[in-house]
Amino acid sequence: MKMIGKISLLAAAALMILSGNDAFAQKKAKAQAEPEFKPLTDEEYEALAATPPMGWNSWNKFGCNVSETLIKEMADAMVSSGMRDAGYQYIVIDDCWQVDRDKDGNIVCDPERFPNGMKAVADYVHSKGLKFGIYSCAGSYTCQGRPGSKGHQFQDARTYASWGVDYLKYDWCSNDGQNARAAYQTMSEAIKAAGRPIVLSICEWGEGEPWKWGKGIGHLWRVTPDIRDIYDCTFDWGGVGVLQCIDAMADLQRYAGPGHWNDAEMLEVGNGGMTRDEYITHFSMWSLLAAPLMSGNDLRHMSPETIEILCNTEVIEVNQDPKGEQGTRWMDMGDKEIWAKPLSGGEVAICFMNRSDSEWHLDHNWLKQTMYFATEINMKTTEYTVRDLWEHCDLGTTKTNLVKTIPAHGTLMVRLSPKK
Ligand code: GLA
Repeated sequence: MKMIGKISLLAAAALMILSGNDAFAQKKAKAQAEPEFKPLTDEEYEALAATPPMGWNSWNKFGCNVSETLIKEMADAMVSSGMRDAGYQYIVIDDCWQVDRDKDGNIVCDPERFPNGMKAVADYVHSKGLKFGIYSCAGSYTCQGRPGSKGHQFQDARTYASWGVDYLKYDWCSNDGQNARAAYQTMSEAIKAAGRPIVLSICEWGEGEPWKWGKGIGHLWRVTPDIRDIYDCTFDWGGVGVLQCIDAMADLQRYAGPGHWNDAEMLEVGNGGMTRDEYITHFSMWSLLAAPLMSGNDLRHMSPETIEILCNTEVIEVNQDPKGEQGTRWMDMGDKEIWAKPLSGGEVAICFMNRSDSEWHLDHNWLKQTMYFATEINMKTTEYTVRDLWEHCDLGTTKTNLVKTIPAHGTLMVRLSPKK
């Protein structure tokens, strides 16, 4: 009896060792199969948007009419039009891709419009050398009544990471009176915990002054209600025009910098509601304001004029300047304004913006007429060359007057570089 007892004890011990080994082997195999999620550090997170994000978003042109086919065609067009080479990166699906949650609470995408699931779409976008973005909302429902992320933030962030999402636009409808900062902080933590680099676009319309708390939580934050394809419209819930977006950005310079940007709203260039000169103002000013450049038109059917504007690399360089300073309004002469953005290497970008309905016959004496500014950049001792960023030609130096006619609603954008 004793002997049997000893044998059974030994057997039990051997079994324990064996099963222990077995558990270890199983754990090892699992770890090899599933890459472990490594949370992003705060530094890694901020580094995701060292310069203002550039891309395309479906909302302005297509509203709820999104599908796998549309997104793939847009990715193709971003490459064939030259936009990818000009710096655009993200293809973002806005509202309406989601229809439900499954029994485990996982978000479900529209099976008819996205028959192969979202990962297939992301894979396609990535295969074109681009990045993939998606939309959700901090409330229970999105602005179009689709399921929002409230109560599912960590689960959704894991889902997005598994699909290969690189950018999340996070809206503010049906927010049930939540505290905005806390709501966006939660999604930010969820993204960091999911371990995939995902840019977070805070779309809170500027209601809770996100410029005061958004840094480190998200990478960009909207400062206005929704833009419309109009140069000038009333600043209310009917939407905002280009001028209202610019004015809303005017005093927010100190809140922008590498990793955190004031978002002047998505672009309307190419959507047909404005003149060429107004679109030039739109694009020049977004670039000068270091605002994200998210195009919102049909990239498959662009006129040469639209491509010329969206792909003006001299203007884009100003937007993407590594110094990351947002431009400011240097002179306000009623309906004529002068804006400046310091660039790296002692250079400066300047916009002469003509808000008026008639031409501006500019005859600008650099030293006399921009006195404060001239002092700031030592114009007395340093001579700068002046380059027209739309006509791509040099316009003399700061020692001579800048003489130019600027059309109604148009903008002259120049770059000043210390003369060698
Ligand atoms: C809000 C946002 C828009 C867009 C729509 C989608 O209005 O501000 O940019 O995302 O929702 O429903």
